[in-house]
Amino acid sequence: MKQVKASAPGNLFFAGEHAVVYNYPAIVTSIGKRTFVTASSREDIIVEIESSAFGIATAKNRNGQLIERSMEKKELNSVMDLCEKVIQDFKISDGFSLKIESEIPVESGMSSSTAVLCASFCAITELFGQHVKPEKYFDSLYPLQVKIHGGKASGAEIYSSSVGGFNRIQKVEENGKVVQKVKSLGKQEFSVVIGNTKVRGPTALVVGVHHPSIIKRFPELVRDSWKKIEKIVKSMQSAIKKGDVVKVGKLMTANQKVLSKIMLSHPKLDDCITEALKAGALGAKLSGGGWGGVMFALVRKEDEDKVAKAIESTGSEAIITEIGGEGVRVEE
Ligand code: MEV
Repeated sequence: MKQVKASAPGNLFFAGEHAVVYNYPAIVTSIGKRTFVTASSREDIIVEIESSAFGIATAKNRNGQLIERSMEKKELNSVMDLCEKVIQDFKISDGFSLKIESEIPVESGMSSSTAVLCASFCAITELFGQHVKPEKYFDSLYPLQVKIHGGKASGAEIYSSSVGGFNRIQKVEENGKVVQKVKSLGKQEFSVVIGNTKVRGPTALVVGVHHPSIIKRFPELVRDSWKKIEKIVKSMQSAIKKGDVVKVGKLMTANQKVLSKIMLSHPKLDDCITEALKAGALGAKLSGGGWGGVMFALVRKEDEDKVAKAIESTGSEAIITEIGGEGVRVEE
C-alpha cells in the first residue's frame, strides 16, 4: 500500500476579509496550526474519507463520478467534491482512502475548510504521482471554495494555505477568469494571540445570505465600508514596511469597527476584543467570516501571556501560534 501524508496551514486576516470577496485587497497570513491528510492507495474503487471532526464518508469511483455517496456528516461532501474533481482532472480510475486530522478548530475563521482542501489536494495528487505547484492550487480549488462559502469567495485563503507567508492578496478578473494578485509582505516577527470563542462561525450564511441582504438594504454603507477597509489595507501595508507595529495594531482595531458596523461581529468576539485591548494588546479584530469563530490580538512579545489570560477570562480559548510560515507540504 502506498501512502502520502500532506499538510496545509490555517490563516488569519490582518485586514480586508469580506471586502476581499468584492475584489478589494486583504492582508492574510498563514499560521502555525495545520491540517494533516494521509492518502492511501486501495485495490478497489472505493473512496473513503475518515475525518477526526466529521466521521466517515464513502463513495464509489465509477468512471470518474463519485456515486453512492454515504456520509456521517454533510460537511464531508465538499471533500468528496474535491476527490471527484481530482479524479476527473487527473483521470484516476482507482479508489483511495483519506485520513484527515486537524489542529484547526472547525468553522473558527482560521480557514479550516481551506486547509482540508489544500492538504487533501496535495496528498491525493502526490499519491498518484502528480506534482502540482502550490501557486496552481487556486485554479483547481477556487470553484469548491465558492460553493463552501455560499456562492461567492475571494480565494485569498487558498493562496495563503497553499503558498504560505504573509501577503497582500486581491482577487481580480482577467479575461473572464478569476486570478489572484499577490504581493509578499516579507517575513514578519509579529506576536499574536488568537481567541477562539468556540461559537461556530457560519461563513456560508454570512457570505451567501447576510452580504446580499445588507448590500440590498444599505448599499451606500456597504460600499463605504469596503472603501474604508481598502484604505486600512493600504495604510497597513506601509506600516508593515516601516515596521510600525503600533500602527498595524491601530489599523486592525479600525478594521474591526468597520466590520462591526455592518453586523459581522458577535457579542462574544466583542467581549474578547475588549478584554484583549484592556490587557494591553496593540490591536484586535475578528478574523474570517465573523458571527463567531476567532478574533486575534497583536501584542508585544512580553504581553502575550497577559493578553492570553484576558481572553481566557471570557471563557474563550487562547491560542498562541507563529505566523507567516510554510504553505502546503508533503510530510516525511
Ligand atoms: C472567510 O474566511 C473570509 C471571507 O472574506 C470570505 C472569502 O474571502 O472568501 C469572509
